[in-house]
Amino acid sequence: MAEHLSQSELDYPFKLLEYFNGFRVSKVIFSACELGVFDLLLHSQKPLSAEEVSHELRTSKDGMKRLLDVLVGIEILEVELTEGTAHYSSTDVANLYLAKSSPKSLHDMIIYQSQTIYPLWNNMVDAVREGKNQNEKTFGLSSEDIFSAIYRSEEEMLKFMGLMNSTWIIDGHDIVTAFDLSCFKSIVDVGGCSGALARELAKAYPASTVTVLDLPKVVQTAQKHFIQSDDTIRFQEGDFFKEDLPAADLYVLARIIHDWKEEKCLTLLKKINAACHPGGGVLLVEALLFENHRGPIMAQIFSLNMLVQTEGMEHPPSQYTHMLTAAGFTDVQVCRTGKSYDAILALK
Ligand SMILES: C[S@@+](CC[C@H](N)C(=O)[O-])C[C@H]1O[C@@H](n2cnc3c(N)ncnc32)[C@H](O)[C@@H]1O
Repeated sequence: MAEHLSQSELDYPFKLLEYFNGFRVSKVIFSACELGVFDLLLHSQKPLSAEEVSHELRTSKDGMKRLLDVLVGIEILEVELTEGTAHYSSTDVANLYLAKSSPKSLHDMIIYQSQTIYPLWNNMVDAVREGKNQNEKTFGLSSEDIFSAIYRSEEEMLKFMGLMNSTWIIDGHDIVTAFDLSCFKSIVDVGGCSGALARELAKAYPASTVTVLDLPKVVQTAQKHFIQSDDTIRFQEGDFFKEDLPAADLYVLARIIHDWKEEKCLTLLKKINAACHPGGGVLLVEALLFENHRGPIMAQIFSLNMLVQTEGMEHPPSQYTHMLTAAGFTDVQVCRTGKSYDAILALK
């Protein structure tokens, strides 16, 4: 990308300007979500003028008109002019992913990005200078205990769990079918949060039992806010650093290793290896970096996010292989999905 960019941008820096303005595009989408634009347009029987939208959502007409126009410019909304007045309607993509009421909604992901990640990224210069997370500067909380910072209030815990949950709406199926896991009859999703990935596992492997293990207050919140009437998954309260892990055939660690320093990751992986039934395994789910440092851009951005928010980072497959073999696992297989998250399976 660098060579291509440096050559094509010499006459006029189109791409660079687009990159500089990327945060403004994000903020437009975040603001429209927070104001409820996409839900209003989804439920409206007809295209709406800026005046109608602003009236319904109690905003200024001028501000709403400009916001709607940018959303048209980035092709998230459509516009038609009738007798000189612009009428706005949603695209299928906005209806599917941006409206809160859609079953594939990424609304919770957007709210977390807007209200938590955005302020953290505002301290990126300090994060890079200091090489540590910015929970203290951003939210006035200790940077040592990362999950105390992330779960600093019930509202924040719900927002974080909503973020985790919405990822698996779009990526869950690809992850659980990256390998045939049907031989593993008991599966524990370690740090499984709201249970969204566990539900995908239970759907794909109905003959297996799937248990979500997480901190007590997370399990209680999952059971209060994320439980589904047809749930077959189980929940177990526990601390994966302090307590014994239940015995199982397969342990899933989705976005766990990237939170912690290598030493803690090794402790956890060794503990899993000890608890794992003979012939069992571990499935790591992470955004895998390329070995050559050239991408994927989303994994590189996630790694910077781990810097501002946690004590961990994203890794290329070789680093996960190194940790897994150091913890006693063998037969490491890597599956890149080509989407946000990838899977690595290793056996005991
Ligand atoms: C980044 S989230 C990943 C959640 C989920 N696996 C996913 O990918 O959606 C990390 C999870 O680990 C849990 N966690 C953190 N520390 C833990 C501990 N000591 N014991 C058990 N769970 C823990 C958090 O509550 C959270 O659900």
